[in-house]
Amino acid sequence: MSKKLLRKDLAEQAQQILEACPLIPVISIQQPEHALPLAQALVDGGLRVLEVTLRTPHGLKAIREMRQAFPQVWVGAGTVLDPEQFDQAVEHGAQFVITPGITRKLLKHGLEAEVPLVPGIATVSELMEGVALGYRHFKFFPAEVAGGVAALKSFAGPLPEVRFCPTGGIRKETAKDYLTLENVCAVGGTWLTPADAVQASDWGQITEIAKASLEALP
Ligand code: 3PG
Repeated sequence: MSKKLLRKDLAEQAQQILEACPLIPVISIQQPEHALPLAQALVDGGLRVLEVTLRTPHGLKAIREMRQAFPQVWVGAGTVLDPEQFDQAVEHGAQFVITPGITRKLLKHGLEAEVPLVPGIATVSELMEGVALGYRHFKFFPAEVAGGVAALKSFAGPLPEVRFCPTGGIRKETAKDYLTLENVCAVGGTWLTPADAVQASDWGQITEIAKASLEALP
């Protein structure tokens, strides 16, 4: 019996999304009324891919609202921990799903899902699990503590065809170090949505951070 592999269209879509914008904000909605103005501020700052985490109870509704209000950008779900959350995210309109790590269940679930899964890995062994199922695009998390730029350079030795979106500890000043690597499509992080600015509804500041972060890239 032949082994099931990731559908080709899902792999292509993962690539398209991760190549749509070099910076991906990792968004946690603490107050539901923040979802739309925050997304607007990020879009105004030039960002085109929004990762809304399911770390708060407002994540799913925020995904639905952002999808409706911003048809020109990619809106996906982050911090997805199991297949049930994966399906809920898709039902709410998520166009991609990102997980902090892998489980066999999640990897299998992503093979024939409606939207691409970008599994999170921190080691070569985890990477090999995903690659064996046909995945080629991964989140590298937590990037800075799991070896950062040096680790990604090392991954390129045995697995040169794999592409990454590193997140975890990356900031405006360090994003460029990752993006100069051939195996990095985009980097993500929460520095693009500082909690104090969001809490103060300082949307202008959010737009400025996004713009300055894009300008700091090579
Ligand atoms: C993630 O889920 O990608 C991380 O929480 C982002 O890490 P950061 O807060 O260090 O940017």
